[in-house]
Amino acid sequence: MAGNHRKLLLACCGLALAAAGMLAHAQKPERQCLDCHDDDEAIHAIGNTVHGSLAGGGSDSCVACHGPSTAHKQKATKNPPDVSFGPEWPSDPAVRSASCQTCHNTGEHALWTGSAHQQENLACDSCHDAHQQQDLVMGTQEAEKICLDCHTQVRSEMHLPSRHPIAEGKTACTDCHNPHGGLGEAALQQVSVNDNCFSCHADKRGPFLWEHPPAAEDCTLCHKPHGSVNEPLLTARGPALCQQCHAAAFHPSQPYGSEGLPGGRANQNMLGKNCLNCHSQIHGSNHPSGARLTR
Ligand code: HEC
Ligand code: HEC
Ligand code: HEC
Ligand code: HEC
Ligand code: HEC
Ligand code: HEC
Ligand code: HEC
Ligand code: HEC
Ligand code: HEC
Ligand code: HEC
Repeated sequence: MAGNHRKLLLACCGLALAAAGMLAHAQKPERQCLDCHDDDEAIHAIGNTVHGSLAGGGSDSCVACHGPSTAHKQKATKNPPDVSFGPEWPSDPAVRSASCQTCHNTGEHALWTGSAHQQENLACDSCHDAHQQQDLVMGTQEAEKICLDCHTQVRSEMHLPSRHPIAEGKTACTDCHNPHGGLGEAALQQVSVNDNCFSCHADKRGPFLWEHPPAAEDCTLCHKPHGSVNEPLLTARGPALCQQCHAAAFHPSQPYGSEGLPGGRANQNMLGKNCLNCHSQIHGSNHPSGARLTR
């Protein structure tokens, strides 16, 4: 009906020839994504992933992430698709991530906005490979490689003499960090650093009869999370560690004599090792007479 009407109108204006051309163009079935993107195996691999069946599969699945891309379908070499992840016309990171977040916006994914990765202009596809049959970042070992491509400082910390066994595969970046963001600092899986540590080192949680305040407050006052030159993962060595806070303690804190010690305890203990020879319960004590963390 509309067609006839238009034809009539155009004929009146003496443009019948042109109209016939336009009609032929309008009736030509619009080419779908896979009509043109038909020869690239890497693109087609998406058919074997959960995303391949989005919106019923086929070319309709493409639209779920790349948008309807009408202009692109009409003149593909000139107009980018609505959302592109590159290589030719990469959309802004925010646009790329928003495309994924139309579906992945709940749970941990709600933390993305405001996360360090979002603010540093990463996008979902900085880590995820949607067209690969196997999205590599979903595997722990591969994820670690991807993280370390950017986090070179952590890479070097991982090989220090004292370290969390990350390279050994016993702990993974994602055991401690949520790559999509977190509620507390450093995108940890837990809200606080200590809750993170307790998730594996439950014995350090207490409650202790005699608490050592810094341990209850923040394990990283004394420990490095990834690696350190000082065993075991300590921020500093021997008495220096303690003397950051106990420079003017009850007794002289220099570990070289018994002169100022209460009761003039054996100075042998002060030599070679350090404060821990006497204050061995450094994380807290439950011994009735464990005040001063000595037992
Ligand atoms: C889940 C979201 C998603 C779906 C669905 C999707 N893509 Fe993609 N597409 C991406 C991402 C992300 C990239 C960037 C490369 C990668 O991660 O694999 C990409 C890259 C591309 C590229 C560029 C590849 C290159 O390196 O030259 C083309 C072309 C493409 N997609 C076409 C399609 C077609 C055709 C479909 C439908 C069969 C489709 N995409 C479905 C997310 C998607
Ligand atoms: C008429 C053929 C044709 C149709 C239809 C078509 N494309 Fe393309 N597409 C191309 C060509 C050709 C390129 C390469 C353009 C270039 O690099 O100059 C391309 C490139 C792309 C790219 C890469 C963009 C980039 O930044 O490098 C994506 C993604 C893409 N198309 C997705 C789609 C999606 C999704 C659809 C369906 C909604 C679609 N295409 C429909 C021909 C087509
Ligand atoms: C139209 C909705 C939709 C869009 C858009 C979408 N996804 Fe998904 N995605 C799903 C569904 C459905 C699943 C399967 C169920 C689940 O794990 O939530 C899934 C699963 C996944 C998984 C888990 C795959 C696995 O093997 O377990 C990852 C990773 C993922 N999506 C990443 C992305 C990324 C990255 C983008 C953007 C490039 C994206 N998704 C866009 C719907 C979508
Ligand atoms: C810094 C790397 C990185 C970035 C950026 C990233 N992811 Fe992930 N994503 C991962 C890793 C690693 C996993 C597997 C471990 C896990 O589940 O946390 C994962 C898992 C997932 C899963 C499967 C787990 C689930 O909830 O079902 C989905 C879906 C997903 N990511 C979507 C996204 C979306 C959407 C974005 C962008 C808003 C995004 N990711 C950005 C690294 C990343
Ligand atoms: C494309 C580069 C890139 C990749 C890949 C990447 N990151 Fe990041 N990440 C950054 C940048 C940039 C920052 C902000 C600067 C910084 O803290 O180093 C950051 C910050 C972080 C932070 C600090 C968060 C905060 O709130 O302070 C953590 C933790 C982190 N990344 C973990 C990971 C993990 C785990 C992976 C792998 C799953 C990963 N990153 C992959 C670039 C990347
Ligand atoms: C055992 C838990 C744990 C593991 C495993 C772990 N981290 Fe961390 N990471 C932390 C803690 C805790 C912090 C916060 C440190 C602080 O507040 O001083 C942190 C901080 C970071 C930061 C912020 C900058 C910095 O160095 O302080 C980045 C980036 C980071 N981690 C990346 C990684 C990457 C990449 C991996 C895997 C190779 C990884 N982490 C493995 C616990 C861990
Ligand atoms: C995902 C589990 C996990 C989390 C979370 C975790 N650790 Fe560990 N930690 C380990 C494992 C595994 C070892 C190695 C134990 C072994 O080899 O017997 C270890 C060892 C250590 C060591 C001894 C290192 C050495 O050289 O002997 C210290 C100290 C330590 N962790 C402190 C921390 C602190 C502080 C936190 C919180 C920032 C933390 N851990 C979080 C798993 C974890
Ligand atoms: C005041 C400094 C200090 C604080 C704070 C601290 N630690 Fe320690 N931690 C040490 C010292 C010193 C050692 C070595 C003890 C030794 O050699 O007997 C140690 C050893 C460890 C060890 C390895 C030996 C063992 O006892 O299992 C783990 C695990 C550990 N700390 C976890 C933690 C956790 C978890 C926290 C936070 C709740 C924490 N530390 C807070 C000083 C501290
Ligand atoms: C980050 C600061 C900090 C570090 C590092 C630190 N402490 Fe403490 N320590 C404190 C604070 C705060 C108190 C509580 C002081 C008070 O109650 O007056 C305390 C109390 C103590 C007490 C007395 C406990 C009691 O029951 O009265 C001993 C003993 C002690 N620390 C030993 C050590 C030793 C040994 C080290 C080194 C392994 C160390 N501290 C490292 C902050 C620190
Ligand atoms: C030879 C054993 C021994 C060594 C080594 C030792 N201390 Fe003590 N320290 C004690 C004893 C015993 C007390 C308890 C005194 C009391 O209860 O009157 C004490 C008390 C303390 C107190 C509590 C002071 C107060 O105000 O109540 C602190 C803090 C302390 N020591 C820190 C250190 C530091 C730091 C080092 C290492 C530089 C160290 N100690 C080395 C035996 C030792």
